[in-house]
Amino acid sequence: MSATTAPSRAEPSLRDRLRADTRDAHEALDASFADMFADISGAQYRRFIAMNLKAHEAIEPVLAESPLGRPGAGDDHADRLEAARQDAKALEVEPSPTSPFPLPRPDIFEAFGIAYVLEGSRLGAKYMSRAIKRDERLSGARWPTHYLEASSDARPFTRLLDRMAAEPAGEDDMRRATAAADATFRYFRMLCGDNDERTTRA
Ligand code: HEM
Repeated sequence: MSATTAPSRAEPSLRDRLRADTRDAHEALDASFADMFADISGAQYRRFIAMNLKAHEAIEPVLAESPLGRPGAGDDHADRLEAARQDAKALEVEPSPTSPFPLPRPDIFEAFGIAYVLEGSRLGAKYMSRAIKRDERLSGARWPTHYLEASSDARPFTRLLDRMAAEPAGEDDMRRATAAADATFRYFRMLCGDNDERTTRA
């Protein structure tokens, strides 16, 4: 009689870890913009666009130089940085000084964590651009939605997840990725002037 092997329980993937460990950080950022659609003056929306513009300006070159490269690189999706610039111009967002991104030379797992935050932000974008179009007060106020529309394409995020899944990750690798994702969320919060201290459970 052959020995039976206990069914193995699937280990959490790197994405599972990133999602679980940055849940609080995401909620803090989300909460910081909870009143965005109620604020018909557009001041909160300007803050949202300004934050994303600065984040893309600072983070895209870091990822491009990293072992990951620019995530989802290819010509089948819109340029989010350019789209944020268009919205910022339409909203007359004043250029303001920014701080350098805290992880200028990430390794591959740190780059996964950084890109997870930058590309994951696409997942809420479709919902946000639909909310603006549905709300007559906001669509009537003609909020520009280039950034949200460019971000509504989730394919680069899916491609990033495929790349993550193809890279075997040990515990140390996962911790580095999670710490980098946490630093990225904190960087976003700093850019939008949010002092909420919630952070990852890593
Ligand atoms: C400010 C308003 C925001 C709202 C309302 C929002 C909403 C959402 C929603 C509804 C999802 C889940 C979508 C789904 O599962 O299909 C999501 C996912 C995600 N968002 Fe946001 N988001 C916001 C901002 C951001 C920002 C600015 C970032 C990045 C800095 C971000 C990072 C992420 C990430 C990484 C995920 C993927 C989580 C996962 O692994 O499934 N979000 N967001």
